[in-house]
Amino acid sequence: MGYNVAVVGATGNVGTEILNTLSERGFPADRVAAVASTASIGKEVSYGEDRRLKVEALDHFDFTGWDIGLFSPGAKVSAIHAPRAAAAGCVVIDNTSQFRMDEDVPLIVPEVNADAIAGYTQRNIIANPNCSTIQMVVALKPLHDVARIRRIVVATYQSVSGSGNAAMDELFRQTRAIFVNDPIEKEKFPKQIAFNVIPHIDVFMDDGATKEEWKMRVETQKILDPAIEVIATCVRVPVFVGHGEAIHVEFEQPLSDDAAREILRDAPGVAVVDHRADEGYVTPVECTGEDPVYVGRIRNDPTVENGLAMWVCADNLRKGAALNAVQIAERLIETHMKKAA
Ligand SMILES: NC(=O)c1ccc[n+]([C@@H]2O[C@H](COP(=O)([O-])OP(=O)(O)OC[C@H]3O[C@@H](n4cnc5c(N)ncnc54)[C@H](OP(=O)(O)O)[C@@H]3O)[C@@H](O)[C@H]2O)c1
Repeated sequence: MGYNVAVVGATGNVGTEILNTLSERGFPADRVAAVASTASIGKEVSYGEDRRLKVEALDHFDFTGWDIGLFSPGAKVSAIHAPRAAAAGCVVIDNTSQFRMDEDVPLIVPEVNADAIAGYTQRNIIANPNCSTIQMVVALKPLHDVARIRRIVVATYQSVSGSGNAAMDELFRQTRAIFVNDPIEKEKFPKQIAFNVIPHIDVFMDDGATKEEWKMRVETQKILDPAIEVIATCVRVPVFVGHGEAIHVEFEQPLSDDAAREILRDAPGVAVVDHRADEGYVTPVECTGEDPVYVGRIRNDPTVENGLAMWVCADNLRKGAALNAVQIAERLIETHMKKAA
C-alpha cells in the first residue's frame, strides 16, 4: 500500500525538483498528481526518467483521497488552497512563507527538529522553512548542541532560482542584453541583477530589515532555539542555483575550529569540505544538484569571545526546498501515517 501524493506548483522550480526527488528517493507513492494553475492545463511534466504526468488545475482539484500535498504555488495561493486540502484529509507540506510562523503549524528541518512534526494534527499543515534558514540550521544545530549559540551574524549570497523560474529568465536575458548592447529590462528584481549584487530580498520592514532577513531570524528561533539572536543581510547574486552564506557565530562555551570540523563531519545532512588550499571549499556551482549542506572555511573568530566563522553552501532547490519537503513526508509516513505492507 503506497500513498497518494499531489504536487502543487508542479511546473515551477520547486515543484519540478519535488517530482525529481520523490522519484529518485523511491518515495512509496501509488499515485502522483501534478497540479498547477489553469494556464498549465494540458502541459506535461516529468516524474522520474520515464514517466510523464498531465498537469491538472488547482482550482478544480479535489483533494479527497490524497494523503499528502507537497505545495509550492506561492504564498497567496497556498493561503487559499492548503486549508482546503487539509480539510479534505490531505496533509499539506507547504514550501511557501504562508504558515511558517503560525503557532499551530510545525516548521520542520528533519535533521534539527523532526519530533515537532507531531504537531501537524492541529491544522493538517506542516511548513517548510525558507531556503536560507534551512541550510544555516542544518550546519549550526550540531554545534549548538555542544557549545550553545548566543548570536549569529550572517550574510547570504542567494541565487536567482530562489525567486522562481521567471527570475532565472531575467538573469539570462539581462546577461545576454549586456553582451549584445541591448537595453536592460527589469521585472522580477528591483535593480539590474546581471553582473551585479542586490542587498534586497522581499519587502522592507519597519526596522529597516528586509522580510527575508526577518525570516532568517524568526525561523531560526522557532526551529532551533528562541534564545538565539540573529542578524542577517540577505543579498541576491547573479548565480542560477545554489546559495552561499558567510556565517559568524558566538557561542556560550569555547569551541575550536578543529572541534567544530570534527563535530560536523559526523552531522546528518552535512558534508565538510574544508582544505585551506585552492579549490578546498564548495561554491554554489558545485553544490547544484547535490543533497548535502556543505561547510568549509571554518576558522576561529578572534574578534569575539568563543567565535567561529564559516562558509555554508547548498542547493536551494533541493535541501532548501524540495529535498527538505520530501524528507518531511518520509518522516511523516514513517512515524504518523504508516500503512500496512
Ligand atoms: N525557489 C526556492 O529556492 C524556494 C525555496 C523555498 C520556498 N520557495 C517557495 O516556493 C514557492 C514557489 O517557488 P518556485 O521557485 O517554484 O516558483 P516558480 O518557479 O515561479 O513556480 C510557481 C509554481 O506555482 C504555480 N502557480 C502559480 N500560481 C498558481 C495558481 N493560482 N494556482 C495554482 N498554481 C499556481 C505555477 O504554475 P503555472 O506554471 O501554471 O503558473 C508554478 O507551478 C514560492 O512561494 C517560494 O517562495 C522557493
